[in-house]
Amino acid sequence: GLPARVRIHEVGARDGLQNEKTAVPTAVKAEFIRRLAGAGLTTIEATSFVHPKWVPQLADAEELFPQVSDLPGVALPVLVPNRRGLDRALALGAGRVAVFASATESFARANLNRTLDESLAVFEPVVRQAKDQGVHVRGYVSMCFGDPWEGAVPAYQVARVCTALRDMGCDELSLGDTIGVATAGQVRELLALLNDRGVPTEMIGVHFHDTYGQALANTLAALQHGVTTVDASAGGLGGCPYAKSATGNLATEDLVWMLHGLGIATGVDLGRLTATSVWMAEQLGRPSPSRTVRALSHK
Ligand code: HMG
Ligand code: MG
Repeated sequence: GLPARVRIHEVGARDGLQNEKTAVPTAVKAEFIRRLAGAGLTTIEATSFVHPKWVPQLADAEELFPQVSDLPGVALPVLVPNRRGLDRALALGAGRVAVFASATESFARANLNRTLDESLAVFEPVVRQAKDQGVHVRGYVSMCFGDPWEGAVPAYQVARVCTALRDMGCDELSLGDTIGVATAGQVRELLALLNDRGVPTEMIGVHFHDTYGQALANTLAALQHGVTTVDASAGGLGGCPYAKSATGNLATEDLVWMLHGLGIATGVDLGRLTATSVWMAEQLGRPSPSRTVRALSHK
């Protein structure tokens, strides 16, 4: 059966805005996050403490984070690629961080300037130090289903990275379909293999980009398997600057429309969320690609 409730991990402010060509003012980002919280989202990925030259769009992490960190009842995870990133996040009192690994060598190189094993060696002390400080750690795995350089990615290769992150002490994993090529059968196959390798479904979240319009079908397959954490970005913002074929994430509005239709609780007010994405689209100067945002805002 399907879960009674799903926890939405909102990534628009990070995965969405990291990909914008124009710099979004810090005050607009802060207002975006406050509006997302006002719409009922309780896990809002705020920014990344990565190298500012690698992702200039998020170079204002130090200014932004303190502007939103007092939102009551809202967890604000941040991305950290290494010790330097973790130190920056801890200095601001971040309570949740995410390391981000790749299932493929090509993307580890492109995104982290490391081999896959070098990147795992970087994460190991980062996860340990975060856990020692009582900080919750998410482990992303990118390119779980397909990779722009390597093509289809075998599930056993993904499982190796997932078990490594679990063994380091990550509290949760997020399976990234970075370029949005997965189909539902692959999702079922990977989740079953992960269970076989001792990764419990409770620690697995799914992170679908919507390039081929499969994100909702893939999400439903994951829910049927027992997954209850789903990543999405308000208005369908997003992409990855180091994976050219990536488009936006599954739009949070499209996800909420499906979940509420299935009787699954999210705590999200779809009207307020849509209004937030319409407002953000105005700030960015182009319409939201979300079908649900378009349908609800043209009523
Ligand atoms: P590097 O050039 O190899 O860095 O980049 P390094 O370790 O050799 O250090 C070089 C210099 O950078 C040093 O300064 C460091 O201090 C500094 P210097 O001593 O020369 O003056 N430095 C930093 N400064 C600030 N913050 C830091 C930091 N680290 C080093 N954290 C690095 C390696 C990992 C830093 C770089 O590759 C990087 O920042 N990559 C991030 C790429 C990124 O953010 N990608 C998007 C997020 S992943 C994603 O979107 C996928 C996801 O959504 C899931 C999915 O869809 O699949 C999560
Ligand atoms: Mg992503």
